[in-house]
Amino acid sequence: WVLMVTAQTPTNIAVIKYWGKRDESLILPINDSISVTLDPSHLCTTTTVAVSPDFTHDRMWLNGKEISLSGGRYQNCLREIRSRASDVEDEKKGIKIAKRDWENLHLHIASYNNFPTAAGLASSAAGFACLVYSLAKLMNVKEDNSHLSAIARQGSGSACRSLYGGFVKWIMGKDDNGNDSIAVQLVDEKHWDELVILIAVVSSRQKETSSTSGMRETVETSPLVLHRAKEVVPKRVVEMEEAVKSRNFPAFARLTCSDSNQFHAVCLDTSPPIFYMNDTSHRIISCVEKWNRSEGTPQVAYTFDAGPNAVLIARNRKVAALLLQRLLFHFPPQSGADLNSYIVGDKSV
Ligand code: DP6
Repeated sequence: WVLMVTAQTPTNIAVIKYWGKRDESLILPINDSISVTLDPSHLCTTTTVAVSPDFTHDRMWLNGKEISLSGGRYQNCLREIRSRASDVEDEKKGIKIAKRDWENLHLHIASYNNFPTAAGLASSAAGFACLVYSLAKLMNVKEDNSHLSAIARQGSGSACRSLYGGFVKWIMGKDDNGNDSIAVQLVDEKHWDELVILIAVVSSRQKETSSTSGMRETVETSPLVLHRAKEVVPKRVVEMEEAVKSRNFPAFARLTCSDSNQFHAVCLDTSPPIFYMNDTSHRIISCVEKWNRSEGTPQVAYTFDAGPNAVLIARNRKVAALLLQRLLFHFPPQSGADLNSYIVGDKSV
């Protein structure tokens, strides 16, 4: 027999960034962060997990290619979920798995991203969140999403925020064991459903410096990063929560853009410096800044993760349509700019 579960998890985009760990193996951050979860029909990971007495070892395929599960991050997630497994019974198939059997049963895992992997589009976030969620369903883990978020966090920090829709805060926590470093939902997906997120894929090439090694180098060498984590982010998190709860777009846009810019400033302050954005990214920023200034009040917010792709958040559908027009005008496909496609989607789950 084979027992299977399939789940789909959207990615999330941080509007107050996580950058820097205080514990590398448990993945504990140096500051809180806030993100918005995308609609699962746009950028998501789909994962099928299967268990069978015929499987001889745990195996995983990512986008059809087998990958190794020996890394600590996968092992941590598998161990944590297995240790919380419960009895499972499928009467139709005549399958009965007792809690203690899970330790000896092996898993096959197949995961697909519908967007470029490791191009700064937070693929690890959707990937680990989906892995943990689907395993928890298969093994009948009874814990709620905030407990699951602490497990997904051990796969990739940003993954803990993908277990909820809407706007989500990852509380950094204080405990050394990481039990209080969990994600909580600030508002659900219906709260601010006028927002439209548009992703300008500037390059779908794999990034040169992974987030994991980039943030390690930053913590080791940047004098700015501690100032950011201790002085700047705590205040911004409070203001961002307020802006989101009251749907205050001007405040939201100001905080989102400033935080993206400071994250990239901290990358530049790293030795050797890390460049995630390119000329096209910079031109997109200028274009949005000019537009926002000419309107007198912000219409669009931009944010860039560990790559050159722009995440643009329009205040409503009308603005999103104008934004797309402007992008196509300034970055026409034949102009030689390497801006190659736009992914348009709603924010919500
Ligand atoms: C720039 O979560 O990918 O997207 O915890 O080492 O797996 P690891 O890093 P990861 O870093 C994400 C960094 C970011 C900002 C954010 O999502 O908050």
